[in-house]
Amino acid sequence: MNLSIKIGKMKLKNPVMAASGTWGAESGELFNIDSFGAIVLKTITLEERSGNPPPRVCETASGMLNAIGLENKGVEDFISNRLPKLRSVKTHIIASVAGAGKNEFKEIARRLSACGRLSALELNLSCPNIKYGVSEGLIAHNEKAVYETVSAVRRATKLTIITKLSPNVTDIGVFAKAAEAGGSDAIALTNTFIGIAVDVDTRKPMLGNVTGGLSGPAIKPLSLRAVWEAGKAVDIPIIGIGGIMDYKDAVEFMLCGAIAIQVGTANFVNPGAPAEIIRGIEEYLKKHRISGVNKLAGALKLG
Ligand SMILES: Cc1cc2nc3c(=O)[nH]c(=O)nc-3n(C[C@H](O)[C@H](O)[C@H](O)COP(=O)(O)O)c2cc1C
Repeated sequence: MNLSIKIGKMKLKNPVMAASGTWGAESGELFNIDSFGAIVLKTITLEERSGNPPPRVCETASGMLNAIGLENKGVEDFISNRLPKLRSVKTHIIASVAGAGKNEFKEIARRLSACGRLSALELNLSCPNIKYGVSEGLIAHNEKAVYETVSAVRRATKLTIITKLSPNVTDIGVFAKAAEAGGSDAIALTNTFIGIAVDVDTRKPMLGNVTGGLSGPAIKPLSLRAVWEAGKAVDIPIIGIGGIMDYKDAVEFMLCGAIAIQVGTANFVNPGAPAEIIRGIEEYLKKHRISGVNKLAGALKLG
């Protein structure tokens, strides 16, 4: 069974990646990074960010809300202290980046492209917990800003570009097209859905930021629809994300048009999930006598 796929210049040994911000050293040995198709690192920004006020995470029905707010130590710390620790990793490393407008994105892309070890940049245009860019809104909510940001990064790097879009829009196809026109090699869908949870006794929001990003099984049908719609709009590959807990969820995303998938919230519940999903996809292909995983992308039977 051939599990390998191509995204831009990257050849991945399998289509399963760890999603940005949902794993770390604490995932322990169960989290066998080298076996994944790729890993996406936590989003970094040009300068250090302290993130949002606590509480930053809470549980909801079939999911979780988070409002971390892109806490990170900035791009220079990443290059000097974090990236060297990942040198021995035997899979593709994808840096996730965010910035206040296209010039910051371009500058981070320029600095990261020079450091050699990265295979791709995932442009996080869609973190729902911070405001930056055009009129203090999200870049991913403004079609022109998506196009201009991706084009600026395209001019600054030869690395593969993945554009991570927001599901919190009316017509996702328009934004996927803008990313494709800007020169993105792939689209990642979805980031989290904006939500609120309330403590009725204190009458306070559960999160310090009031709103947060909903992830986990609760969002899977919504993310599937976004992948399906985006797949109809563009020719570049789609990476499906949203509530993927097991191999069946992963295959659902592929049938709806994704060539690869990312595992997020599942890592908090079961750090072994990505490895189990890789095995499950392989067994699924064997059972259904499908020679390669790339044959699944968009193979949903209609009617
Ligand atoms: C605690 C937490 C932190 C996250 N941090 C980031 C981040 O830094 N950058 C990013 O692009 N997405 C981030 N995400 C979003 C995930 O990468 C993913 O798009 C989202 O959670 C949906 O997938 P899931 O339902 O499998 O978790 C974060 C999600 C969670 C739950």
